[in-house]
Amino acid sequence: MSSKSPAPTPSLPLDKLGRPLHDLRISVMDRCNFRCPYCMPKETFGEGYRFLGSSERLSFPEITRLASIFVRLGVRKLRLTGGEPLLRAGLPELVGDLAALQEVEDVALTTNGVLLARHAEELKAQGLGRVTISCDSLDADVFKTMSGGFGNPSEILDGIQAAISAGLAPIKINCVVQRGINDHTILPMIEHFRGTSVVVRFIEYMDVGTRNRWNRDKVVASRDLHAMIHARWPLAPIAASYRGEVAERYAFADGAGEIGFISSVSQPFCGACTRARISSEGVLYTCLFATHGLDLRTPLRAGADDAALEQLIVAAWLGRADRYSEIRADVHESGTEHKIEMYYIGG
Ligand code: GTP
Ligand code: 5AD
Ligand code: SF4
Ligand code: SF4
Repeated sequence: MSSKSPAPTPSLPLDKLGRPLHDLRISVMDRCNFRCPYCMPKETFGEGYRFLGSSERLSFPEITRLASIFVRLGVRKLRLTGGEPLLRAGLPELVGDLAALQEVEDVALTTNGVLLARHAEELKAQGLGRVTISCDSLDADVFKTMSGGFGNPSEILDGIQAAISAGLAPIKINCVVQRGINDHTILPMIEHFRGTSVVVRFIEYMDVGTRNRWNRDKVVASRDLHAMIHARWPLAPIAASYRGEVAERYAFADGAGEIGFISSVSQPFCGACTRARISSEGVLYTCLFATHGLDLRTPLRAGADDAALEQLIVAAWLGRADRYSEIRADVHESGTEHKIEMYYIGG
């Protein structure tokens, strides 16, 4: 065979539960400029906390190379996450490299929005398709309680406006709901965004990691939230925009846009989970609640070729049987958890 023959297309791997690999979530930064107590509680992530050094994080060419291998294995959707991804210097350059990969259909970013006003135009110019902004309340005091004292709603709203002006669409808001903390500010939040193209999604508070002192009593089930919202503004379900969409979508019956519910605690969606994640230091995880991952950085830096890296990734995916949210109760009972943290893997 001539050395110019194209590499054979691999057969796309299915995991042990028959799920293909379709989405790759790439964490580019383990630091954050917020300290949301449900993710990076201040007591743990104080001044002395040791985050990764910059040489421990994958470089942009390393990320792009890994992403291109994942694309060969079926990935069509890439999402950049953190910590806070916009703290990574030069992020638009990485967006440009990823958007240039053939066959990638969707390049998205999840951010807390503080730095978005500064970067929205450039991100769009480099090929970012859309952005999702975390915002747990538009009430300034409640916002600060949820963010650990950092940021304020008006700068997040400026970031959202900049993203709209730059043409990033659709814009989604992620609102984590905690009973007794921000649930009374949900209706005002909806009132603010109703009638615009911004889609607010309410997320059940999850037991990600081991440091947020998660407790089921703090979770507001989506069905209860739905009932409260429906009583004020009637809602009608709408179809998922893609197979395996994490959020359940609802339209306002009066045509004033849509909202979504992400119900990983009360209605797990593991059956259709096609997501892989890589941490900023290059460890591959096949579940948000994983207890261990596969180090890809060591072979990458030791000179492994694409075929060898591909084999490692395929083996990890073929061996995948994760369905944490479906078996949460059993895992909690056994009490043997060393799960990865949210700031480290990006949701
Ligand atoms: P879209 O592409 O717009 O549908 O985004 P997304 O909802 O997949 O991603 P986003 O980063 O906005 O995540 C929204 C929420 O869903 C976050 O709280 C994530 O942690 C959570 N989430 C995303 N994927 C998974 C998953 O595979 N399992 C669980 N349990 N939660 C997830
Ligand atoms: N439960 C639910 N969502 C969470 N997020 C962070 N920590 C949690 C948690 N414990 C959300 C963030 C961000 C998204 C990626 O995950 O608010 O929007
Ligand atoms: Fe930062 Fe997002 Fe975690 Fe809040 S939830 S501390 S904004 S990474
Ligand atoms: Fe996927 Fe794990 Fe989330 Fe289930 S709990 S949907 S397997 S990431």
